[in-house]
Amino acid sequence: MIRTPLMNVMTAAVLKAGRGLKRDFGEVSMLQVQRKGPGDFVSLADKRAEQVLYDELSRVRPGYGFVMEESGVIAGADSTHTWHVDPLDGTTNFLHGIPQFAVSVGLERNGEMVAGVIYNPANDELYMAEKGQGAYLNNQRLRVSGRVDLHDAVIGCGIPTLSKGGHQRFMAELGALMPKCSGIRRAGAAALDLAFVAAGRLDAYWERGIHSWDMAAGIVLVREAGGFVTDAKGGEEFIASGEIVAGNEAIQADVLKLVKSA
Ligand code: IPD
Repeated sequence: MIRTPLMNVMTAAVLKAGRGLKRDFGEVSMLQVQRKGPGDFVSLADKRAEQVLYDELSRVRPGYGFVMEESGVIAGADSTHTWHVDPLDGTTNFLHGIPQFAVSVGLERNGEMVAGVIYNPANDELYMAEKGQGAYLNNQRLRVSGRVDLHDAVIGCGIPTLSKGGHQRFMAELGALMPKCSGIRRAGAAALDLAFVAAGRLDAYWERGIHSWDMAAGIVLVREAGGFVTDAKGGEEFIASGEIVAGNEAIQADVLKLVKSA
């Protein structure tokens, strides 16, 4: 548990948004849903949760900017701080009644992700991390897994949906990894995939075509849990490129090598 003023305001906002999502998840079939594009649904719950996060965070930290999944970029008077907000990561899971979804909020300070909170209201798992303070799941300190052999590793991934490109490339990457590791998982919520890497449940995770709001909080969690995060070329441009490869030191390096050469 991290009890800094920043973590207090972030967790309060995320838990408040999560309470609404938990209620809405219980009534998921009753929700009014509109189609944003093939395979990409936006629910009223999503919009309500984003409004809660915006209201709470802008009240406690006036001036910070926002990058939000639904409302886009809202510039703030303080250009050194930006919240990256995904009110409902795992929207498709949510709409299908699959309890793998989360509220995710990351804070960028002077171009660096410095704090992240991810909360799955379906099982009350609250992940938090702040630069220099460690990473936690509820009250438990997190460390990435200690596995060093790819044969023993379970790797998370994101599969491009029909509205995204890159299907052939994904198949090539999957083909490269499949015969070399213990298992591959596609759980459907990028923020939780990264949180699972921080918790040592997954040994690594890779995905292309995701956004800052999907990965901001999770990047801080993985790093604070002792893991490594790069883009798919091994660089630092994960936000700009939308590509991410995260994991413990050994398995991240192995996955990166295979993804690069696929
Ligand atoms: C999606 C999920 C999914 C990932 C997609 C994301 P959303 O986020 O994180 O796991 O594969 O790339 O867009 O749309 O549910 O917030």
